[in-house]
Amino acid sequence: MSNNALYTDLSGYYDLMCADINYQAQSNSTHRLQQIFGNSGQRHLDLACGTGPHIYYLIKDGYQCSGLDINQPMLDLAKQRCPDAQFELGNMCDFEVTKPYDLITCFLYSIHYSGDIQNLKNCIQSVHKALNNGGVFCFNSVDKNYIDNSLFAKHSVIHENSKLSFGSSWYYRGEGEKQTLKLSIEKKTTEETQRWTDEHSMVALSFDELKTLLIPYFDVHIFEHEHDKITAWDKASGNAIFLCVKR
Ligand SMILES: C[S@@+](CC[C@H](N)C(=O)[O-])C[C@H]1O[C@@H](n2cnc3c(N)ncnc32)[C@H](O)[C@@H]1O
Repeated sequence: MSNNALYTDLSGYYDLMCADINYQAQSNSTHRLQQIFGNSGQRHLDLACGTGPHIYYLIKDGYQCSGLDINQPMLDLAKQRCPDAQFELGNMCDFEVTKPYDLITCFLYSIHYSGDIQNLKNCIQSVHKALNNGGVFCFNSVDKNYIDNSLFAKHSVIHENSKLSFGSSWYYRGEGEKQTLKLSIEKKTTEETQRWTDEHSMVALSFDELKTLLIPYFDVHIFEHEHDKITAWDKASGNAIFLCVKR
């Protein structure tokens, strides 16, 4: 399944699936990083913005926000959530802007949707071109060498008389530039149980490889994947926040 078809199917359930993510803390931490490392500008673009949860909070911090996503049903939900923001249908690996931004974000590991290294390079170049001087590119990433194929994150919510259970996991076969995101949804009512699964191929790389792609364009800082404090990446954890300042 293409990731566009995946998110068309998923859009109605997306916010329930992400109910345990603290988008407010993640957005606040991004704002703090922009204040420390950025150019004080307030023009923000969220790549692969989905239903717009980061935009919702960054508008409250005073940003003028835009969102770009490849899936129109996700953008329709984002516009409902954030009527004051601008949204555009597009591919983060090939986009241009009319007026540059001060902060570009890409969260929930969505940078990996670039699919392969060449598209990721194109994405990095598009971002660099779309930023003002001293602008910041902030995203989270997973290092392929730290993926534990046996881990499976799962949570459940009650919604309209159904119990919805969501599962997700990464799989990396140990070599190559592809990793798989496995998703599952189970919808259980007293009458029936429906199950839905998907496996999606995404770009895989180590943090060292990612840094090598970014260095020609940005000063790169890597932080622990924490939102209540800013700590340099300890080189032992497989999830991290990349903060890249345009040179
Ligand atoms: C896991 S969701 C993340 C949404 C949001 N960033 C969040 O944190 O909740 C991934 C999003 O990436 C979008 N996407 C996938 N490939 C893309 C691409 N090449 N360009 C733009 N958006 C893309 C999907 O449509 C989906 O909305």
